[in-house]
Amino acid sequence: MKRMIIDCDPGHDDAIALILAHRVADVVGITTVSGNAPLSATTENALMLTALLEVDTPVHAGAAGPLVGEPVHAAMVHGESGLGTVDRIPHSRHVASDDAVGYLLDAAAEDIWIVAIGPLTNLAHAIERDPTWTERIAGIAIMGGSAGVGNATPVAEFNIYADPEAAARVFESGVEVVMCGLNLTHQFLTDDGIAERLRAADVPTARFAAQICDDIHGRMESLTGRRTAALHDPCAVLAVTHPDLIETEARAVSVEVDGTLTRGMTVVDQRITRRPNAPNALVGYGIDAEKGMAQVLDALGA
Ligand code: RIB
Ligand code: CA
Repeated sequence: MKRMIIDCDPGHDDAIALILAHRVADVVGITTVSGNAPLSATTENALMLTALLEVDTPVHAGAAGPLVGEPVHAAMVHGESGLGTVDRIPHSRHVASDDAVGYLLDAAAEDIWIVAIGPLTNLAHAIERDPTWTERIAGIAIMGGSAGVGNATPVAEFNIYADPEAAARVFESGVEVVMCGLNLTHQFLTDDGIAERLRAADVPTARFAAQICDDIHGRMESLTGRRTAALHDPCAVLAVTHPDLIETEARAVSVEVDGTLTRGMTVVDQRITRRPNAPNALVGYGIDAEKGMAQVLDALGA
């Protein structure tokens, strides 16, 4: 099984990604970051998920805000708690440390993947503290950016928009980033039928995931008129554990940090009529959604 550290901001889809990863990979650690909700909430949610999973994966808290500017959250999608009104699971777990960056640096190994599914602040700090870090890990797979539409703005995806300077540092670091952007993740959707299948499974992780789906479908219905949600973050896990399910192309990706209308946009060089810029990422364009969903449902216990 692939070994990985998951850097996350739980987050409904982060929660599904954490459950998936613990079934299909060897998750050696979890680091948390401010994103969908404040750091205190994303960290509490990560601890709660390790209790649900009954695993002893250490949780290290990380950055409470971006490299530049104030924290940005997504309460309209994930609620103030980061997991909407999903039932809380009582637990007595605590963080292993408040130094996610130190943990990322110390835990680096040639067979360890970093799967980053929130803003990239912790990764940028790690690169800043040790520029050789990216040479000491297997690679970085992110849910972030887009080779098409945005969500936080017309052109920017939330994880990048929440900390564009951090994302720029990661894409400029020289490591080849596997990028699962919105153009890919919008092909990987849950609906009420999925929620029903999870409820019918009647095991703790499936029941929890059914609540996650019901909550996010209700929020998305009020935002978009449709009871469906993209399983964004699980795509980044599958990109590492089941790369055959995701079609990628080598592309040059840059992050806009100055644009008035475009700050946080991942500018993907897709030109074919002239020599494009040298690629620094494998950008996801297609997913076998049926096989991917089968992996997710199996991991959730359905
Ligand atoms: O734009 C989607 C991304 O932003 C996902 O990672 C979601 O959890 C939020 O962090
Ligand atoms: Ca996330």
